[in-house]
Amino acid sequence: MAILKVARLGHPILRQVAEPIPPSEIGSPEVQRFIDDMVETMREYDGAGLAANQVHTLRQVAVIEVLANPRYADAPPVPLTVLINPVVTPLGDETEDGWEGCLSVPDLRGSLQRHLAIRVHYLDRHGEECDEIKRGLTAGTYQHEVDHLDGVLFVDRADPRTFATWEQFDRHQRDEFVRRVTRLKEELRW
Ligand code: NI
Repeated sequence: MAILKVARLGHPILRQVAEPIPPSEIGSPEVQRFIDDMVETMREYDGAGLAANQVHTLRQVAVIEVLANPRYADAPPVPLTVLINPVVTPLGDETEDGWEGCLSVPDLRGSLQRHLAIRVHYLDRHGEECDEIKRGLTAGTYQHEVDHLDGVLFVDRADPRTFATWEQFDRHQRDEFVRRVTRLKEELRW
C-alpha cells in the first residue's frame, strides 16, 4: 500500500468530473490497490473522507470513515465505506448548517447548508449494489465526498464570511457546533 499525494485547492483536477468505473473492472488488482491506497491516505491524514480527484485520479471512487478522529472530534462514527459510482438524492427539503473542512483545503473550515437526509446508491468494493439512507452530519459527509467527484468543493457552498482557521474554529465556534450536533443527534436518534 502507498500513501498518495493529496491535491490542494487550486489544482485543476479538483474542478474536474470523475468518470464512472465499469462494474467489471472493480475486482481488478489495479482498482483494488487504488482503493487500499485511498483508505491508507485518508487515515494517514486524519480525513473523514477522501475522493479520487483529491489523489489526482478522475474515477468515481470515494472512501469515508469516522472513528475517533482528532480533526472531527464531534462527528458521529461512520464505519469504513467505499463508494464507487455513487449517486446522492436528497430526501425532503430540510437542510442543516454544518462546519466542514477538507484535506485539499488546508487549515480552513466553513459553515454551509447540507441536505439533512439523503439516499445514496453506490457499488461497494466487491461490486455489490448498495442503497442506503443517511442523516445529519453523516449525510453531510457523503454529500461532501460526492461533490468532489463532480468537481465541487465545500468552499463553493460555504458562506465565505464563516471561514475560520482550525485554531480559530476551536476557540470560537466549536462549542456551539458541538451543542447543536448533540441536539440534532437526539432529534434524529442517530
Ligand atoms: Ni474534501
